[in-house]
Amino acid sequence: MLRTESWAWMPLALLFLVGGPSTSNGQQESVTDILNPIVEAVANPILEPVAALAPIPGALIGAASPFTSILNPLLQSALLQNNVTQFSSDIVTNLSALVALLANAALPVPPYLRPDLEAEKLGFAGENYNVTTSDGYVLGVFRVRSRTCASYRAVVVLPPGILSNAATFIYIKENSLVYRLARRCFDVWLITFRGYLFGRENLLLSDTSSEFWDFYAYHWGSIDLPAQLKFVSEKTNSTRLRYMGMDQAGTALLFMNHVHGQRYQRLLASTYLLAPIGYLGRLSSTAFATLALLRDVLTAAGALTLHNEFALMNPVVHSVFYNLCGRISPITCYYLFQLLGGQTRELNYPFFYYIARNTLDSTSITAFNYYLQQVGKIKYMAYFDYGPTENMRRYNRTTPENVNIAATTVPCSFYALGSDTVTVPQDVLDTWNALAPSARSSYEVLPNYNGVSPFVPVNSEGIYGPMIRRLEADLTGIP
Ligand SMILES: *[C@@H]1O[C@H](CO)[C@@H](O)[C@H](O)[C@H]1NC(C)=O
Ligand SMILES: *[C@@H]1O[C@H](CO)[C@@H](O)[C@H](O)[C@H]1NC(C)=O
Ligand SMILES: *[C@@H]1O[C@H](CO)[C@@H](O)[C@H](O)[C@H]1NC(C)=O
Ligand SMILES: *[C@@H]1O[C@H](CO)[C@@H](O)[C@H](O)[C@H]1NC(C)=O
Ligand SMILES: *[C@@H]1O[C@H](CO)[C@@H](O)[C@H](O)[C@H]1NC(C)=O
Repeated sequence: MLRTESWAWMPLALLFLVGGPSTSNGQQESVTDILNPIVEAVANPILEPVAALAPIPGALIGAASPFTSILNPLLQSALLQNNVTQFSSDIVTNLSALVALLANAALPVPPYLRPDLEAEKLGFAGENYNVTTSDGYVLGVFRVRSRTCASYRAVVVLPPGILSNAATFIYIKENSLVYRLARRCFDVWLITFRGYLFGRENLLLSDTSSEFWDFYAYHWGSIDLPAQLKFVSEKTNSTRLRYMGMDQAGTALLFMNHVHGQRYQRLLASTYLLAPIGYLGRLSSTAFATLALLRDVLTAAGALTLHNEFALMNPVVHSVFYNLCGRISPITCYYLFQLLGGQTRELNYPFFYYIARNTLDSTSITAFNYYLQQVGKIKYMAYFDYGPTENMRRYNRTTPENVNIAATTVPCSFYALGSDTVTVPQDVLDTWNALAPSARSSYEVLPNYNGVSPFVPVNSEGIYGPMIRRLEADLTGIP
């Protein structure tokens, strides 16, 4: 298996050289022209058999991962929050700021995309607000509307996709989900989960403290989502919000409803979700299954070096990612995303220079490990398992409580992505079946996409079209 995988890196190395440096956005098209024939002729035939084999070891490794939490109980109480880890993390933070300063002089990284300003550039009206949660996180909320609509048909709320932020659904310019909705006279709201860009400010905590990064999808669902739904509902005077998103938007929704029942769910009229994550037990991506095996190592490394931040927005990491995927060799990242998320051609790599300004985004080690904890456990969705001692301290019980997926009663349309090796269709279907009967509106598989495709699809109509058509049918009452 190792040998098979190393084959996959040969075209990457080759294409890294061929890709060559492109210095500005204006040159992106010519880069694409050079590389397209190579993608078709050389790389795909080599990679296809590799990617087809990868899920098999991935599923085996995944099945083993629930048995590997060896250090965890010790780590959680001993390592996570003390002055030693704060000190070592401060040093790493300072050093990386210095390295990034030097790197930026040679290969400058452009500023982050702000969704309201990007929308204005394309002729839409953009607005920006901040919502402060009960525990002090300041979360950016953005509104995008067409300037030519006499009235708006419905309010659509879009939470960020995983390791991304409020800009998630503007990454392919005009064809993006946000602008498609806005052109059809929907009132579109982009929201933020703590830890991502536009959510790195807290009135009480610095983002260089481990307390700031002590969160996972439970906090997104039980605190961040309610605060912002309430805000949007008040701003728009609507209690018939539509909720549309991907992967973690599903996790947050399920947590919100488990914790709050109807309290905030009553603000929603329907939801439309691409590869929503409730259950994740059948994950078969070799890369993520291996990470699931190594999650204790992630925990220790995160505590010692970066205040428990899964620090993809650390200036050095961001610079490397931006320069590799956005400037030097987008095609290399095209293959990386296939190895991580499943074999597909639905990755629009000419847009990587744009997407790489905002993603991959930071989250907490706990948020990442939360998903990894589910790998290999079929039909398992519970609170984070900190180990018996820490569970007792936090939950007053030694094992974490299960999430009641049936607490979700709002009509849900789920779209599994057929080429996804992370959130595989069978897990999405199992989650859909666990919803309350009133919530099971529709389930459909979109075969050609993997879990990265919703950010940057090639055939954008193929992935966003079904959700938008169903939303419009729901509005008119036609099934
Ligand atoms: C960390 O150091 C501060 C003083 O610098 C002290 O008040 C605090 O108790 C220490 N915390 C731990 C967990 O040792
Ligand atoms: C070094 O790290 C500390 C703690 O994160 C921070 O307060 C300080 O501003 C940093 N110094 C520099 C030069 O980045
Ligand atoms: C929201 O908060 C961020 C971070 O504090 C700030 O940069 C931004 O200007 C604020 N936006 C608004 C509309 O207040
Ligand atoms: C909000 O909606 C309610 C009922 O739909 C209506 O009675 C009320 O006037 C509206 N308020 C505003 C400020 O538009
Ligand atoms: C913890 O759980 C025990 C038994 O379930 C219960 O008797 C006790 O009151 C709980 N303590 C707190 C602080 O909730």
